[in-house]
Amino acid sequence: MRKKVSIVGAGNVGATAAHWIASKELADVVLVDVVEGVPQGKALDMLEAMPIAKQDVSIIGANDYAATANSDVVVITAGIPRKPGMSRDDLLKTNYNIMSSVVKEVVKYSPNCIIIVVSNPLDAMAQTAFRQAGFPRERVIGMAGVLDSARYRTFIAQELNVSVENVTAFVLGGHGDTMVPLPRYSTCAGIPITELIAPERIEQLSQRARDGGIEIVNFLKTGSAYYAPSAAAVEMVEAILKDKKKILPCAAYLQGEYGIDGYYVGVPCKLGAAGLEQIIEIKLTESEDAALKKSAASVKELCAVIGV
Ligand code: LAC
Repeated sequence: MRKKVSIVGAGNVGATAAHWIASKELADVVLVDVVEGVPQGKALDMLEAMPIAKQDVSIIGANDYAATANSDVVVITAGIPRKPGMSRDDLLKTNYNIMSSVVKEVVKYSPNCIIIVVSNPLDAMAQTAFRQAGFPRERVIGMAGVLDSARYRTFIAQELNVSVENVTAFVLGGHGDTMVPLPRYSTCAGIPITELIAPERIEQLSQRARDGGIEIVNFLKTGSAYYAPSAAAVEMVEAILKDKKKILPCAAYLQGEYGIDGYYVGVPCKLGAAGLEQIIEIKLTESEDAALKKSAASVKELCAVIGV
């Protein structure tokens, strides 16, 4: 039997995630949204592309969560996106209410699923989903580090004029202005970029990665990025469905790791069939550690506002 992935939110991120999943033939997809007709229309349109894409998957759209029953993975993208001038944190209260009601329905129909949270502000929304679902932390994971690292990798590859495949990178911390790119752990063909790029230039690339989301918002004006965010979520889905044991930076509920307790913060995680299978603790310098703690403190502030 094929695996089943439900995606909540048929907007740009959700629909594009469905498209990546279908085009990789990873699973059958259910696209859910409150807006009548939109998930059905987008799903049918995508399904009709499958003979051309040569992929055998079912893609259906629904307004009712009954269609999501027994999903292996549920990706939650529901919520309002940013407009120019807004920070991710400005979305907090509206998206908290949406996330709470979505998770209730998801859990009712798929009590054994693994939830991947994509909605912003990411870390606080992952924490909301975790509290509401009552699942162990292994089954509620937030997508942000894969996206932030992909942006960083893009800029590093451009700078060095090398294949993006040669570049790995770690961006840790919360998915906000305080995120923590780690040049020492970012490499080109295994060589730390600190050996290849001057420190001032690395700092410029790091800052561009931190501002990666707003750079797109300022171009689009009516919404935020979706190709890279959806691709990032699907890399996590694939690691789980294929039990790849892949190490990716993800938002995980920390219980003392990195000296942080009781909050979702981006750290290197091993993803496999059980979801979050391991949190990898890497050695940080004093300033890297301070930056991570500062980032965790801003996640804590947001969580306090919504009481999660
Ligand atoms: C971004 C938004 C989606 O980083 O958080 O593009």
